[in-house]
Amino acid sequence: MSKTSASASPLRLGIAGLGTVGTGVIKIVQSQAELLAARTGREITISAVSARSRDKERGVDIGPYDWEDDAVVLAGRDDVDIFVELMGGSDGPAKAATEAALAAGKDVVTANKALLAIHGQELALQAEGAGSVIRFEAAVAGGIPVIKSLTEGLAGNEIARVMGVMNGTCNYILTRMEDAGLPYDEVFAEADALGFLEADPNLDVGGIDAGHKLALLASIAFGTQVDFGAVELEGIGSITIEDIRAADDMGYKIKLLGVAQMTGRGLEQRMSPCLVPASSPLGQLQGGTNMVVLEGDAVGQIVLRGAGAGEGPTASAVMADILDIARGVRLPTFGQPASTLRKARAARATLAAPYYLRMHLVDKPGALAKIASALGEAGISIDRMRQYGHQDTTAPVLIVTHKTTSSALDEAMMAFEGTGVLVDTPVAIRIEDV
Ligand code: HSE
Repeated sequence: MSKTSASASPLRLGIAGLGTVGTGVIKIVQSQAELLAARTGREITISAVSARSRDKERGVDIGPYDWEDDAVVLAGRDDVDIFVELMGGSDGPAKAATEAALAAGKDVVTANKALLAIHGQELALQAEGAGSVIRFEAAVAGGIPVIKSLTEGLAGNEIARVMGVMNGTCNYILTRMEDAGLPYDEVFAEADALGFLEADPNLDVGGIDAGHKLALLASIAFGTQVDFGAVELEGIGSITIEDIRAADDMGYKIKLLGVAQMTGRGLEQRMSPCLVPASSPLGQLQGGTNMVVLEGDAVGQIVLRGAGAGEGPTASAVMADILDIARGVRLPTFGQPASTLRKARAARATLAAPYYLRMHLVDKPGALAKIASALGEAGISIDRMRQYGHQDTTAPVLIVTHKTTSSALDEAMMAFEGTGVLVDTPVAIRIEDV
Protein backbone atom coordinates (compact mmCIF):
# COMPACT_ATOMS: atom_id res chain seq x y z
CA MET A 1 0.00 0.00 0.00
CA SER A 2 1.39 3.36 -0.92
CA LYS A 3 1.98 5.92 1.79
CA THR A 4 -0.59 8.67 1.91
CA SER A 5 0.48 12.06 3.08
CA ALA A 6 3.79 13.72 3.24
CA SER A 7 4.67 15.33 6.53
CA ALA A 8 1.49 17.46 6.85
CA SER A 9 -0.82 16.62 9.73
CA PRO A 10 -4.14 14.91 8.99
CA LEU A 11 -7.17 17.10 8.43
CA ARG A 12 -9.76 15.97 10.95
CA LEU A 13 -13.49 16.17 10.34
CA GLY A 14 -16.43 16.26 12.72
CA ILE A 15 -19.59 15.41 10.80
CA ALA A 16 -23.01 16.43 12.13
CA GLY A 17 -25.93 14.88 10.27
CA LEU A 18 -25.78 11.38 8.83
CA GLY A 19 -28.56 11.46 6.27
CA THR A 20 -28.02 11.02 2.57
CA VAL A 21 -25.27 13.61 2.34
CA GLY A 22 -23.37 12.70 5.52
CA THR A 23 -23.40 9.02 4.57
CA GLY A 24 -22.09 9.89 1.13
CA VAL A 25 -19.25 11.95 2.59
CA ILE A 26 -18.19 9.09 4.89
CA LYS A 27 -18.21 6.69 1.94
CA ILE A 28 -15.88 8.92 -0.06
CA VAL A 29 -13.54 9.50 2.89
CA GLN A 30 -13.38 5.75 3.47
CA SER A 31 -13.14 4.54 -0.11
CA GLN A 32 -10.95 7.25 -1.63
CA ALA A 33 -8.45 7.84 1.17
CA GLU A 34 -5.44 7.48 -1.07
CA LEU A 35 -6.73 9.69 -3.84
CA LEU A 36 -7.74 12.43 -1.38
CA ALA A 37 -4.34 12.36 0.30
CA ALA A 38 -2.52 12.37 -3.01
CA ARG A 39 -4.45 15.45 -4.12
CA THR A 40 -4.03 17.44 -0.94
CA GLY A 41 -0.84 16.11 0.63
CA ARG A 42 -2.83 15.41 3.80
CA GLU A 43 -4.71 12.48 5.16
CA ILE A 44 -8.43 13.27 5.60
CA THR A 45 -9.78 11.63 8.73
CA ILE A 46 -13.04 11.66 10.68
CA SER A 47 -12.77 12.16 14.44
CA ALA A 48 -16.41 12.11 15.46
CA VAL A 49 -19.95 12.07 14.13
CA SER A 50 -23.34 13.10 15.39
CA ALA A 51 -26.91 12.52 14.22
CA ARG A 52 -30.42 12.09 15.55
CA SER A 53 -30.17 8.32 15.83
CA ARG A 54 -27.01 6.37 16.53
CA ASP A 55 -28.30 2.92 15.59
CA LYS A 56 -29.98 3.56 12.27
CA GLU A 57 -28.68 1.32 9.46
CA ARG A 58 -26.86 3.57 7.02
CA GLY A 59 -24.86 1.16 4.91
CA VAL A 60 -21.66 2.70 6.23
CA ASP A 61 -19.52 1.80 9.23
CA ILE A 62 -19.43 4.62 11.77
CA GLY A 63 -17.86 2.34 14.40
CA PRO A 64 -14.36 3.82 13.98
CA TYR A 65 -15.55 7.32 14.92
CA ASP A 66 -16.43 8.83 18.27
CA TRP A 67 -20.14 9.52 18.73
CA GLU A 68 -21.53 12.78 20.06
CA ASP A 69 -25.21 13.22 20.89
CA ASP A 70 -24.87 16.98 20.71
CA ALA A 71 -23.67 18.67 17.53
CA VAL A 72 -22.58 21.72 19.53
CA VAL A 73 -20.20 19.56 21.55
CA LEU A 74 -18.95 17.91 18.35
CA ALA A 75 -18.29 21.32 16.82
CA GLY A 76 -16.03 22.35 19.68
CA ARG A 77 -13.92 19.19 20.00
CA ASP A 78 -10.17 19.66 20.03
CA ASP A 79 -9.66 16.91 17.48
CA VAL A 80 -11.96 18.52 14.89
CA ASP A 81 -10.45 20.90 12.31
CA ILE A 82 -13.50 21.18 10.05
CA PHE A 83 -17.06 21.07 11.33
CA VAL A 84 -19.10 19.50 8.53
CA GLU A 85 -22.69 20.62 9.06
CA LEU A 86 -25.14 18.37 7.21
CA MET A 87 -28.15 18.65 9.50
CA GLY A 88 -30.18 21.29 7.68
CA GLY A 89 -32.59 23.90 8.98
CA SER A 90 -32.10 27.63 9.13
CA ASP A 91 -32.05 27.83 12.93
CA GLY A 92 -31.94 25.45 15.87
CA PRO A 93 -29.08 22.96 16.22
CA ALA A 94 -27.52 23.68 12.82
CA LYS A 95 -27.10 27.37 13.63
CA ALA A 96 -26.03 26.80 17.21
CA ALA A 97 -23.42 24.24 16.21
CA THR A 98 -22.10 26.35 13.33
CA GLU A 99 -21.69 29.32 15.65
CA ALA A 100 -20.00 27.10 18.23
CA ALA A 101 -17.59 25.77 15.60
CA LEU A 102 -16.65 29.28 14.48
CA ALA A 103 -16.28 30.44 18.08
CA ALA A 104 -13.88 27.56 18.61
CA GLY A 105 -11.85 28.63 15.55
CA LYS A 106 -12.93 25.74 13.33
CA ASP A 107 -13.60 25.91 9.62
CA VAL A 108 -17.12 25.02 8.52
CA VAL A 109 -18.30 23.12 5.46
CA THR A 110 -22.05 23.01 5.06
CA ALA A 111 -24.77 21.93 2.65
CA ASN A 112 -27.29 24.12 4.45
CA LYS A 113 -28.81 26.66 2.06
CA ALA A 114 -31.51 27.79 4.49
CA LEU A 115 -28.99 28.61 7.22
CA LEU A 116 -26.80 30.70 4.93
CA ALA A 117 -29.62 32.33 2.99
CA ILE A 118 -31.02 33.68 6.25
CA HIS A 119 -27.98 34.09 8.50
CA GLY A 120 -25.17 34.10 5.91
CA GLN A 121 -23.98 37.66 6.47
CA GLU A 122 -23.67 37.39 10.25
CA LEU A 123 -22.02 33.95 10.03
CA ALA A 124 -19.57 35.16 7.36
CA LEU A 125 -18.62 38.11 9.58
CA GLN A 126 -18.16 35.78 12.53
CA ALA A 127 -16.00 33.41 10.46
CA GLU A 128 -13.79 36.19 9.16
CA GLY A 129 -13.39 37.65 12.63
CA ALA A 130 -12.23 34.25 13.85
CA GLY A 131 -9.93 33.61 10.89
CA SER A 132 -12.11 30.67 9.83
CA VAL A 133 -13.78 29.88 6.54
CA ILE A 134 -17.29 28.75 5.68
CA ARG A 135 -17.69 26.84 2.43
CA PHE A 136 -21.02 25.73 0.98
CA GLU A 137 -20.65 24.26 -2.50
CA ALA A 138 -23.19 21.52 -1.70
CA ALA A 139 -25.83 24.06 -0.71
CA VAL A 140 -26.52 25.19 -4.28
CA ALA A 141 -27.39 22.85 -7.15
CA GLY A 142 -26.00 19.70 -5.49
CA GLY A 143 -23.09 18.30 -7.46
CA ILE A 144 -22.71 21.25 -9.83
CA PRO A 145 -19.62 23.27 -8.87
CA VAL A 146 -21.43 26.57 -9.25
CA ILE A 147 -20.03 28.37 -6.19
CA LYS A 148 -16.52 27.57 -7.35
CA SER A 149 -17.37 28.67 -10.89
CA LEU A 150 -18.61 32.05 -9.71
CA THR A 151 -16.05 32.69 -6.98
CA GLU A 152 -13.01 31.44 -8.81
CA GLY A 153 -13.54 30.53 -12.46
CA LEU A 154 -15.40 33.76 -13.25
CA ALA A 155 -13.67 35.98 -10.68
CA GLY A 156 -12.43 38.31 -13.44
CA ASN A 157 -15.93 39.00 -14.77
CA GLU A 158 -18.59 41.48 -13.91
CA ILE A 159 -21.62 39.22 -13.67
CA ALA A 160 -24.66 40.38 -15.62
CA ARG A 161 -27.15 37.69 -14.74
CA VAL A 162 -27.46 34.40 -12.89
CA MET A 163 -30.28 32.06 -13.84
CA GLY A 164 -31.19 28.53 -13.14
CA VAL A 165 -33.40 25.61 -12.42
CA MET A 166 -32.20 24.76 -8.93
CA ASN A 167 -34.85 22.51 -7.51
CA GLY A 168 -34.82 19.06 -9.04
CA THR A 169 -38.11 18.04 -7.45
CA CYS A 170 -40.00 20.85 -9.17
CA ASN A 171 -38.37 20.09 -12.49
CA TYR A 172 -39.25 16.44 -12.04
CA ILE A 173 -42.88 17.33 -11.33
CA LEU A 174 -43.19 19.70 -14.30
CA THR A 175 -41.55 17.37 -16.81
CA ARG A 176 -43.44 14.34 -15.51
CA MET A 177 -46.75 16.22 -15.81
CA GLU A 178 -45.92 16.90 -19.43
CA ASP A 179 -44.58 13.46 -20.32
CA ALA A 180 -47.38 11.48 -18.65
CA GLY A 181 -50.15 14.02 -19.22
CA LEU A 182 -50.95 13.94 -15.50
CA PRO A 183 -52.31 16.73 -13.30
CA TYR A 184 -50.17 18.41 -10.65
CA ASP A 185 -51.78 16.67 -7.66
CA GLU A 186 -51.15 13.21 -9.05
CA VAL A 187 -47.51 13.89 -9.88
CA PHE A 188 -46.99 15.57 -6.50
CA ALA A 189 -48.26 12.37 -4.83
CA GLU A 190 -45.93 10.30 -7.02
CA ALA A 191 -42.94 12.47 -6.11
CA ASP A 192 -43.88 12.12 -2.45
CA ALA A 193 -44.07 8.33 -2.73
CA LEU A 194 -40.66 8.29 -4.39
CA GLY A 195 -39.22 10.24 -1.46
CA PHE A 196 -38.27 13.24 -3.63
CA LEU A 197 -39.95 15.87 -1.47
CA GLU A 198 -38.40 17.63 1.49
CA ALA A 199 -39.99 16.92 4.90
CA ASP A 200 -41.80 20.22 4.39
CA PRO A 201 -42.84 19.91 0.71
CA ASN A 202 -43.47 23.64 0.49
CA LEU A 203 -39.70 24.15 0.60
CA ASP A 204 -39.64 22.46 -2.81
CA VAL A 205 -42.92 23.28 -4.54
CA GLY A 206 -43.26 26.72 -2.94
CA GLY A 207 -39.92 27.73 -4.47
CA ILE A 208 -38.31 28.40 -1.07
CA ASP A 209 -35.44 25.94 -1.38
CA ALA A 210 -34.60 27.25 -4.86
CA GLY A 211 -35.03 30.84 -3.60
CA HIS A 212 -32.45 30.19 -0.88
CA LYS A 213 -30.01 28.97 -3.52
CA LEU A 214 -30.63 31.95 -5.78
CA ALA A 215 -30.04 34.41 -2.92
CA LEU A 216 -26.69 32.77 -2.20
CA LEU A 217 -25.59 32.94 -5.83
CA ALA A 218 -26.73 36.57 -6.11
CA SER A 219 -24.57 37.55 -3.15
CA ILE A 220 -21.43 36.15 -4.77
CA ALA A 221 -22.33 37.37 -8.24
CA PHE A 222 -23.07 40.96 -7.27
CA GLY A 223 -20.98 41.51 -4.14
CA THR A 224 -24.10 42.09 -2.05
CA GLN A 225 -25.25 40.87 1.34
CA VAL A 226 -27.37 37.78 0.98
CA ASP A 227 -31.00 38.84 1.12
CA PHE A 228 -33.43 35.95 0.84
CA GLY A 229 -36.27 38.16 2.08
CA ALA A 230 -36.04 40.18 -1.12
CA VAL A 231 -36.49 37.21 -3.46
CA GLU A 232 -39.84 37.40 -5.26
CA LEU A 233 -41.12 33.87 -4.73
CA GLU A 234 -43.81 31.91 -6.48
CA GLY A 235 -44.13 28.14 -6.44
CA ILE A 236 -45.39 25.66 -9.02
CA GLY A 237 -48.62 24.66 -7.26
CA SER A 238 -50.83 26.62 -9.62
CA ILE A 239 -49.32 25.25 -12.84
CA THR A 240 -51.85 23.11 -14.66
CA ILE A 241 -51.42 20.45 -17.27
CA GLU A 242 -53.43 22.77 -19.51
CA ASP A 243 -50.73 25.45 -19.19
CA ILE A 244 -47.97 22.96 -19.83
CA ARG A 245 -49.71 21.75 -23.00
CA ALA A 246 -50.61 25.24 -24.16
CA ALA A 247 -47.08 26.52 -23.57
CA ASP A 248 -45.72 23.58 -25.52
CA ASP A 249 -48.10 24.42 -28.32
CA MET A 250 -46.54 27.89 -28.50
CA GLY A 251 -42.96 26.51 -28.45
CA TYR A 252 -42.19 26.88 -24.74
CA LYS A 253 -41.58 24.81 -21.60
CA ILE A 254 -42.58 25.87 -18.09
CA LYS A 255 -39.74 25.87 -15.56
CA LEU A 256 -39.38 27.04 -11.98
CA LEU A 257 -36.69 29.51 -12.95
CA GLY A 258 -34.52 31.67 -10.74
CA VAL A 259 -33.19 34.92 -12.13
CA ALA A 260 -30.93 37.40 -10.36
CA GLN A 261 -29.68 40.53 -12.06
CA MET A 262 -28.48 43.96 -11.08
CA THR A 263 -30.62 46.67 -12.66
CA GLY A 264 -30.53 50.46 -12.53
CA ARG A 265 -33.20 50.24 -9.81
CA GLY A 266 -31.44 47.66 -7.67
CA LEU A 267 -31.04 43.92 -7.34
CA GLU A 268 -33.77 41.86 -8.90
CA GLN A 269 -34.13 38.33 -7.54
CA ARG A 270 -37.06 36.17 -8.48
CA MET A 271 -37.87 32.50 -8.34
CA SER A 272 -41.05 31.78 -10.23
CA PRO A 273 -42.56 29.66 -12.97
CA CYS A 274 -41.44 31.05 -16.33
CA LEU A 275 -41.75 30.04 -19.93
CA VAL A 276 -38.49 29.36 -21.73
CA PRO A 277 -38.04 28.41 -25.39
CA ALA A 278 -38.42 24.63 -25.77
CA SER A 279 -35.23 24.54 -27.83
CA SER A 280 -33.08 26.32 -25.21
CA PRO A 281 -30.81 24.35 -22.84
CA LEU A 282 -33.15 25.25 -19.95
CA GLY A 283 -36.17 24.20 -22.00
CA GLN A 284 -34.62 20.81 -22.66
CA LEU A 285 -33.83 20.10 -19.01
CA GLN A 286 -35.61 16.93 -17.99
CA GLY A 287 -36.41 15.28 -14.67
CA GLY A 288 -34.58 16.02 -11.42
CA THR A 289 -31.57 17.63 -13.05
CA ASN A 290 -30.41 21.18 -12.25
CA MET A 291 -29.03 23.79 -14.62
CA VAL A 292 -27.35 27.07 -13.82
CA VAL A 293 -26.64 29.73 -16.44
CA LEU A 294 -24.02 32.36 -15.62
CA GLU A 295 -23.41 35.44 -17.73
CA GLY A 296 -20.20 37.43 -17.38
CA ASP A 297 -19.04 40.49 -19.31
CA ALA A 298 -15.86 38.81 -20.48
CA VAL A 299 -16.79 35.15 -20.68
CA GLY A 300 -20.30 35.52 -22.13
CA GLN A 301 -22.73 32.80 -21.15
CA ILE A 302 -21.81 29.49 -19.58
CA VAL A 303 -24.20 26.67 -18.79
CA LEU A 304 -23.67 24.17 -15.99
CA ARG A 305 -25.84 21.07 -15.79
CA GLY A 306 -25.88 18.14 -13.40
CA ALA A 307 -27.48 16.35 -10.50
CA GLY A 308 -28.90 18.77 -7.97
CA ALA A 309 -29.42 16.27 -5.19
CA GLY A 310 -28.60 12.73 -4.12
CA GLU A 311 -25.88 11.06 -2.10
CA GLY A 312 -23.02 11.00 -4.58
CA PRO A 313 -23.45 14.43 -6.19
CA THR A 314 -23.96 16.30 -2.92
CA ALA A 315 -21.11 14.46 -1.17
CA SER A 316 -18.92 15.29 -4.16
CA ALA A 317 -19.56 18.99 -3.54
CA VAL A 318 -18.91 18.69 0.22
CA MET A 319 -15.61 16.94 -0.51
CA ALA A 320 -14.54 19.70 -2.91
CA ASP A 321 -14.82 22.20 -0.05
CA ILE A 322 -12.98 19.92 2.37
CA LEU A 323 -10.20 19.38 -0.14
CA ASP A 324 -9.86 23.11 -0.75
CA ILE A 325 -9.32 23.65 2.95
CA ALA A 326 -6.85 20.75 3.05
CA ARG A 327 -4.94 22.43 0.23
CA GLY A 328 -4.89 25.75 2.05
CA VAL A 329 -7.42 27.47 -0.22
CA ARG A 330 -9.22 29.87 2.14
CA LEU A 331 -11.68 32.11 0.34
CA PRO A 332 -14.17 34.51 1.92
CA THR A 333 -17.64 32.98 2.26
CA PHE A 334 -19.23 35.05 -0.49
CA GLY A 335 -16.13 35.61 -2.61
CA GLN A 336 -15.07 38.89 -0.98
CA PRO A 337 -14.73 39.94 2.65
CA ALA A 338 -18.16 40.04 4.29
CA SER A 339 -17.58 43.58 5.57
CA THR A 340 -17.26 44.78 1.94
CA LEU A 341 -20.54 43.26 0.73
CA ARG A 342 -23.03 46.00 -0.11
CA LYS A 343 -26.61 46.03 1.09
CA ALA A 344 -28.48 45.98 -2.22
CA ARG A 345 -31.67 47.86 -2.86
CA ALA A 346 -34.30 45.27 -3.76
CA ALA A 347 -35.96 45.86 -7.12
CA ARG A 348 -39.19 44.26 -8.21
CA ALA A 349 -38.98 42.57 -11.60
CA THR A 350 -39.08 45.77 -13.59
CA LEU A 351 -37.32 44.80 -16.78
CA ALA A 352 -39.73 44.31 -19.64
CA ALA A 353 -40.46 40.80 -20.84
CA PRO A 354 -42.94 39.07 -23.08
CA TYR A 355 -45.78 37.29 -21.29
CA TYR A 356 -47.88 34.24 -21.96
CA LEU A 357 -51.55 34.69 -21.11
CA ARG A 358 -54.17 31.98 -20.97
CA MET A 359 -57.81 32.66 -20.29
CA HIS A 360 -61.27 31.29 -20.89
CA LEU A 361 -63.67 33.72 -22.54
CA VAL A 362 -67.39 33.54 -23.02
CA ASP A 363 -67.90 32.38 -26.58
CA LYS A 364 -69.79 35.32 -28.06
CA PRO A 365 -69.07 37.97 -30.69
CA GLY A 366 -66.64 40.70 -29.63
CA ALA A 367 -65.24 38.86 -26.55
CA LEU A 368 -61.74 38.55 -27.94
CA ALA A 369 -61.86 42.10 -29.26
CA LYS A 370 -62.50 43.39 -25.72
CA ILE A 371 -59.43 41.58 -24.42
CA ALA A 372 -57.30 42.82 -27.34
CA SER A 373 -58.49 46.33 -26.70
CA ALA A 374 -57.68 46.14 -22.96
CA LEU A 375 -54.17 45.06 -23.87
CA GLY A 376 -53.85 47.89 -26.40
CA GLU A 377 -55.00 50.46 -23.85
CA ALA A 378 -52.35 49.23 -21.40
CA GLY A 379 -49.78 49.73 -24.16
CA ILE A 380 -49.25 46.00 -24.62
CA SER A 381 -48.71 44.70 -28.10
CA ILE A 382 -49.77 41.18 -29.07
CA ASP A 383 -47.18 38.97 -30.68
CA ARG A 384 -49.23 35.80 -31.22
CA MET A 385 -52.71 34.69 -30.34
CA ARG A 386 -54.49 31.35 -30.57
CA GLN A 387 -57.96 30.17 -29.75
CA TYR A 388 -58.18 26.45 -29.25
CA GLY A 389 -60.63 23.61 -28.53
CA HIS A 390 -63.97 25.17 -27.60
CA GLN A 391 -65.39 23.87 -24.36
CA ASP A 392 -69.20 24.17 -24.50
CA THR A 393 -69.85 27.89 -24.23
CA THR A 394 -66.32 29.00 -23.39
CA ALA A 395 -63.37 29.67 -25.63
CA PRO A 396 -59.86 29.02 -24.32
CA VAL A 397 -57.49 31.70 -25.61
CA LEU A 398 -53.69 31.92 -25.59
CA ILE A 399 -51.85 35.17 -26.12
CA VAL A 400 -48.12 35.82 -26.30
CA THR A 401 -47.36 39.50 -25.87
CA HIS A 402 -44.41 41.53 -27.02
CA LYS A 403 -42.17 42.82 -24.23
CA THR A 404 -44.03 44.68 -21.55
CA THR A 405 -43.58 45.62 -17.92
CA SER A 406 -45.24 43.85 -15.01
CA SER A 407 -47.05 47.08 -14.11
CA ALA A 408 -48.56 47.39 -17.61
CA LEU A 409 -49.57 43.76 -17.34
CA ASP A 410 -51.19 44.37 -13.95
CA GLU A 411 -53.12 47.26 -15.52
CA ALA A 412 -54.32 45.02 -18.38
CA MET A 413 -55.32 42.23 -15.99
CA MET A 414 -57.42 44.74 -14.02
CA ALA A 415 -59.03 45.92 -17.22
CA PHE A 416 -59.82 42.32 -18.23
CA GLU A 417 -61.93 42.04 -15.08
CA GLY A 418 -64.11 44.90 -16.27
CA THR A 419 -64.81 43.43 -19.72
CA GLY A 420 -67.37 40.92 -18.50
CA VAL A 421 -66.09 38.31 -20.94
CA LEU A 422 -63.80 36.34 -18.61
CA VAL A 423 -65.01 32.95 -17.39
CA ASP A 424 -62.24 32.54 -14.85
CA THR A 425 -59.08 34.28 -13.66
CA PRO A 426 -56.51 34.56 -16.45
CA VAL A 427 -53.09 32.95 -16.07
CA ALA A 428 -50.07 35.16 -16.85
CA ILE A 429 -46.57 33.74 -16.96
CA ARG A 430 -43.43 35.65 -17.82
CA ILE A 431 -41.41 34.44 -20.81
CA GLU A 432 -37.72 34.59 -19.96
CA ASP A 433 -35.16 35.54 -22.56
CA VAL A 434 -32.64 32.76 -22.16
N1 HSE B 1 -35.05 19.31 -2.54
C1 HSE B 1 -34.00 19.83 -3.37
C2 HSE B 1 -34.34 19.51 -4.81
C3 HSE B 1 -32.64 19.28 -3.06
O1 HSE B 1 -35.32 18.86 -5.10
O2 HSE B 1 -33.59 19.96 -5.67
C4 HSE B 1 -32.06 19.92 -1.84
O3 HSE B 1 -31.94 21.29 -1.99
